[in-house]
Amino acid sequence: MKGYVCKMCGYISIDGAAPDKCPVCGAPKSAFQEKEDAIKLPNDPKNLTDLEKKHIPVIKVVKVCGLIPDGCQDVHVKLGEIQHPMQEDHYIMHIDFYLDKKFISRVILTPFALNPACALHLKAKSGKLTAIPLCNLHGAWINEIDLS
Ligand SMILES: [Fe+2]
Repeated sequence: MKGYVCKMCGYISIDGAAPDKCPVCGAPKSAFQEKEDAIKLPNDPKNLTDLEKKHIPVIKVVKVCGLIPDGCQDVHVKLGEIQHPMQEDHYIMHIDFYLDKKFISRVILTPFALNPACALHLKAKSGKLTAIPLCNLHGAWINEIDLS
């Protein structure tokens, strides 16, 4: 899948253009490179390989938040259907989140003490939520859900 990739931090713009400024690291538009294969997609979505199952994020919405009682829904994300390794030489570096293709958050992961998972506390009630994780060996992957 096509995207505009920030050479400084790996952020991928998915709205069809490079931003004036990277929303993650502040790099200028000139730091972005258009790539046809910026994000990997499964060859056959109905018949995922083990590699694809380890890298495509699983997204779960939890309607009742344990921290913020009103106006919050939690989004739980893990890699993946088969758990991805978190070892020094092979791990998930970060997970970027978008709402309606606009960047909303990056969760940075390290392999030393963390599992390949995170949670967001969303005040948004609707829209399309996209999660794009980056594996240090296998690149960027994607999954999306409609919030409602
Ligand atoms: Fe990987």
